Amino acid sequence: KKEITILAIESSCDETAAAVVRNGRTVLSNIISSQIDLHKLYGGVVPEIASRKHIEKINQVIEEALCEADCSLDDIDAIGVTYGPGLVGALLVGVAEAKAIAYARNLPLIGVHHIEGHISANYIENKELEPPFLCLVVSGGHTHLVCVEGYGKYRILGKTKDDAAGEAFDKVARAIDLGYPGGPKIDKLAKEGNPDAIDFPRAHVGDSVYDFSFSGVKSAVLNYINGCKMKQAEYNRADIAASFQKAVTDVLVDHAMAGVENYGLKKLAIAGGVASNSALRAAMRKACEERDIEFYYPSPILCTDNAAMIGAAAFYDYQNGIRSGWDLNAVPNLKL
Ligand code: KG4
Ligand code: ZN
Repeated sequence: KKEITILAIESSCDETAAAVVRNGRTVLSNIISSQIDLHKLYGGVVPEIASRKHIEKINQVIEEALCEADCSLDDIDAIGVTYGPGLVGALLVGVAEAKAIAYARNLPLIGVHHIEGHISANYIENKELEPPFLCLVVSGGHTHLVCVEGYGKYRILGKTKDDAAGEAFDKVARAIDLGYPGGPKIDKLAKEGNPDAIDFPRAHVGDSVYDFSFSGVKSAVLNYINGCKMKQAEYNRADIAASFQKAVTDVLVDHAMAGVENYGLKKLAIAGGVASNSALRAAMRKACEERDIEFYYPSPILCTDNAAMIGAAAFYDYQNGIRSGWDLNAVPNLKL
């Protein structure tokens, strides 16, 4: 069969999402029901609320995805679903749903790693992108520098030893009263600030050139604010946002450039929620241009959690003959 159409489901955190994707690269529909307004009241994702909301929304989201793609389950060749990492109760909703549909319709079931999904988001709008390439995955839960050696073949060069990049954005945003999720708000406020106003630390971890640490820069921001408050001095939130953002993006760019150079790669992709950060995109584009490296990034809607990226990843797993059994379970700390 020439065309493979996959129904993909994603529910690992606070978006209930379903998509229909053809041959891994063509998105027929991409429905995302965000719970942000619900969790915002608590300053972060509340796992129990997330699971309950997924249960309420998932059938409707899948129906919408099929409807917008103008197809029915008869047109679907396989079901792809995120089975980890993520919140266990949230993941279970998607996994149970995917298993039920696959079993009832006698369709192959493909469990997908969430990070593999983020990486694969790059295939959707960049039809010419093929491995090998380096991918920097920066989201609320993950910061991984991954060498994509082939479809479904990953070598992790480095990852964060503490906070994820997005987590640092969210915590700093909270400290300067921007609310949740903070990443996009810091991005916006930073445009009015001076990135060289405050010299926040650029942490390097031991002797690894690829690992990350963001808890230091986060603490430095909190200490800076507390110091100002103690002295009853004014502080400029836009300067803090811009300087913090610069400290984080400098490290992300440095590590990614070390990766492409040391591994002789000619292509770099970024993925995950923080990949939509405008300063990161600009700095990474400049660094890639200087080294004659092709730079890829997904549209913002494909950077944050969605099911289209899961459909893209599931397609290549399908091609590689990977199938999950009926015992597929949610794995909150699943390794890539
Ligand atoms: O990939 P994602 O939707 O969820 C996870 O898998 O974690 O990423 C969400 C994270 C949040 O921490 C959010 O603050 C961050 O991505 N984010 C951003 C931007 N947009 C989203 N961080 C910096 N700049 C942005 N423009
Ligand atoms: Zn994610």
